[in-house]
This record gives sequence, C-alpha cells and structure tokens, in this order.
Amino acid sequence: RLFNTKTKIDKNRKHLVSIDKKYLEQFIRATEKAAYGASLFIGKNNKIAADKGAVDLMRDELNKIEMKGTVVIGEGEMDEAPMLYIGEKVGSNTGQALDIALDPLEGTNFVAKNLPNAFSVLSVSEKGNLLSAPDTYMEKIAIGTNLPKNLIDLDNSVEKNISLLADAKNTTPEKLFACVLDRPRHKNIIDSLKKMKVNINFISDGDVSGVISVIDENSKNDIYIGIGGGPEGVLAGAALSCLGGQMQTRLVLDKEQSQRATKLGVKNLKKKYDLDEMIKGDVIFCATAVTDGDLVKGIIDKGDSFEASTFALQKSTKIVKKVTNLHKK
Ligand code: FBP
Repeated sequence: RLFNTKTKIDKNRKHLVSIDKKYLEQFIRATEKAAYGASLFIGKNNKIAADKGAVDLMRDELNKIEMKGTVVIGEGEMDEAPMLYIGEKVGSNTGQALDIALDPLEGTNFVAKNLPNAFSVLSVSEKGNLLSAPDTYMEKIAIGTNLPKNLIDLDNSVEKNISLLADAKNTTPEKLFACVLDRPRHKNIIDSLKKMKVNINFISDGDVSGVISVIDENSKNDIYIGIGGGPEGVLAGAALSCLGGQMQTRLVLDKEQSQRATKLGVKNLKKKYDLDEMIKGDVIFCATAVTDGDLVKGIIDKGDSFEASTFALQKSTKIVKKVTNLHKK
C-alpha cells in the first residue's frame, strides 16, 4: 500500500494522534546542520562535495533523534546512494514511527556557483503518510490559497488552467505570474503562457521554493507549472499541505522507472495525485537556507560558530515560523 489510510486514534486522549511536538526542534537541527555542511562548499564549483557535506551532517543529526525513522524519499535507491537512500532506517529505533522525505541539498548548482535559494529540506509524517516515489521526474501544477477547490487540472490545457485561474482571481491572464523551470522540455508550456501574455518568472533550479512561492505573500507568482524532480514535489507538497494552496502531480516514468515505482508500491503509474493524496495526516516541513533565500537568510559563518535560519512548519499545531539559531561548530 502506498499510504496508511487508517486513522490512528489514541484511546486515552480520544483525538487524532499526530507527530509529537518535541520533534520539530530536532528536525530543524537536522536541516541546520546539513545546510552548514553544504555551506562549506559555497562557490567552490563542486556540486558533489556540497551534497555530500549536507548528507553526512543531516544523517548524523537524524540518527540522534529518538524515533523509528524511515527515509521514504531520499538521495536515491539503495544501489545508487550510499547514505540516506530510500528505505534507510534512521534514529534510535525507539519512539514514534516516522517517515521522512529529505533533500539535504536542494539546489546543488546554487551552492557550487554561490547563487541564492539553496536549501536543506526535509518533511516528516507518521508512518505510511507520504507518497513514496522513486527518484524520477514529476509533472506539477500548484496555485495559492482562497481559490475554488480542484480549480486546475494537469489534464487541462495550459490555456484552460490560466483562464480558470484568471476568472477565479477576478483578473486577466496578462496580470498573472507563472513560475516555470527554464528547461527545453517546457517549450509548449512557455509558448502557451506567452501567447496568453502571462508574465513568466523563470527559475534556473530549485522548484521546491518555486512551488512554495505560490503561497508566499512576498512573491508575485500565481501558479507553478512544469516538470521537476519527484522528491522535490513531495517536499513542496508538505509545505503546501501546512500552509494551504492546491497542488496536483503525476509521476513521469520510463519503462525501467515504472518497474521501480511498482516495486515501491505505486499501483496506478498514471495516477494524478492531489495534495491530500501525496501528504496525509500531520506533517512537519523544515527548510534551512544555505545561500540567502526568498524565505530566510543563508548560513552565516561566525568563526567558531554559525548562524542558521529555517522556515519551519507543522500542520497539526499550525506552527509557521522562521527561526534563527546559533550553533557552536
Ligand atoms: P539538485 O539540487 O538535486 O541539483 O536539484 C535541483 C532541481 O532544480 C530541483 O529543484 C528540480 O526539481 C530538479 O533539479 C529539476 O531537474 P533537472 O535539472 O534535471 O531539470
């Protein structure tokens, strides 16, 4: 099964069991440490070293947490990723059973080239509640809050989705902003958007922040549209699931990836996932900036310590916060 669809009831408390509040700070620490690990390679033109710097420290921190943790979205599958691979057990093997989707360094290019918007990101759910997908591409479409439910659909033409969105926002397509990863595979989407005179904010990488931008008051983006990484789709979905907003996704699978997806429990390979099918129940989302980001400032090296800033969310407790912590090195 892809998801644990059973609702867990704590018989004593007679309400929904969610992720214990104590975990949020511990997961924030994991992305802070990972972001620091990556920051040592800012501008060094070495994506692999930057990623490894983040992975090593995130894994150390996760293993300190009292939980029965399983990586459900990670650095790849066991045969291709030595650490934080899909299925790896993390934590002390005591405490709550939690599933973790992680990207220790989202935006490897940004760190290599000293560009903004590199993050260490993770999200956490109770066991069985996150879409467990192989490391493949994913079609994504996302819009913000206060819009009619199921307004847009991946199977609609770009023109139809834009018209529906413009009508719902009581505006015209020329006044809308779309965020799109600058890739040749998006030619048809871009042509359609241009024909409708929609403003396009191209991003070179980093579609976790791209998707989140549709609910960020400081961003003009009304819609995110295009194909990006599947893991990044689930991570961005976790943030949207805490903050509101709508998202629909579908895995993009070749023959070999289809077999891997089937092995991971995906039954319908062509399924369109709505947000509440990707992310069920309570969820935590933490993103610590490595380089300065739209959401928070990047790592500041202070000699014998470093300052890390994190955007942290928990759905059940409605926590939405930006925290800055100082750590001894
Ligand atoms: P990395 O940090 O792993 O390099 O991923 C960056 C990223 O831009 C993601 O945000 C996005 O989902 C994906 O790569 C897009 O993949 P591609 O570069 O192959 O188009």
